[in-house]
Amino acid sequence: MKQPVLAANWKMNNGPTAAKQFMDAFLATYGSRDDRTVIIFAPAVSLPAVAGALGGRSDVLAGVQNIYWAEKGAFTGETSATMARDAGARITLVGHSERRHVFGETDEQCAKKCAAATKAGLGFMLCIGETIEQREAGETERLVKRQLREGVAQIENLISVDFSIAYEPVWAIGTGLTASAGDASAIHTVIRSELRDMIGTRANEIPILYGGSVNSSNAAGLLRAPEIDGLLVGGASVDASSWLTIAQT
Ligand code: PGA
Repeated sequence: MKQPVLAANWKMNNGPTAAKQFMDAFLATYGSRDDRTVIIFAPAVSLPAVAGALGGRSDVLAGVQNIYWAEKGAFTGETSATMARDAGARITLVGHSERRHVFGETDEQCAKKCAAATKAGLGFMLCIGETIEQREAGETERLVKRQLREGVAQIENLISVDFSIAYEPVWAIGTGLTASAGDASAIHTVIRSELRDMIGTRANEIPILYGGSVNSSNAAGLLRAPEIDGLLVGGASVDASSWLTIAQT
């Protein structure tokens, strides 16, 4: 069995001061563990606070929520993969549903971001998932396969790349509606089999996380499902004590 990955997505919460307080509180209780990986996807400005609090700890990773694909230049307001790495990030989210639906990010842009992260030595977690309309129209499987294929389309040697997938049905994000472990597992199975088609048995090592209204009450049940390798948690990850419970699930 793969080791679980427990990932916090703070979204636009926890600036540098709050991030430092969160990390101090979290790390005071969360002792070093080698049976799981914890990732904190922080706002870019909070990366030094998160990475600084971690010191050299390798069981908890700092992550950034978004990058731009160019290395540097006239892109006001953007953060490159190299800059995020320099600020302490080891991994980036790509294609989170809020990036896709609030900021209009396309599969092609996700592909550029995944490729840029890889080139800069940053891991990536590609987020995919359907809206309620797509689910009701029976399009979920076709959509997640497309988002997966197109998201990694610009990476040459995918088989040797450090990445993971987060299945996050858009209708379950921030709504209090969670996919059942069975529903999520069914889609995770589709994603795994598509990955096998792409990279053979290496697919078995790629963590597939579930996200969407995960909290301290439903985390354990979801993680018990064999096809769910980890959890990507938004709202319930912003507060250190709630996150501590989930990270120790
Ligand atoms: P949520 O968000 O846990 O608040 O539903 C999950 C996410 O957006 O990654």
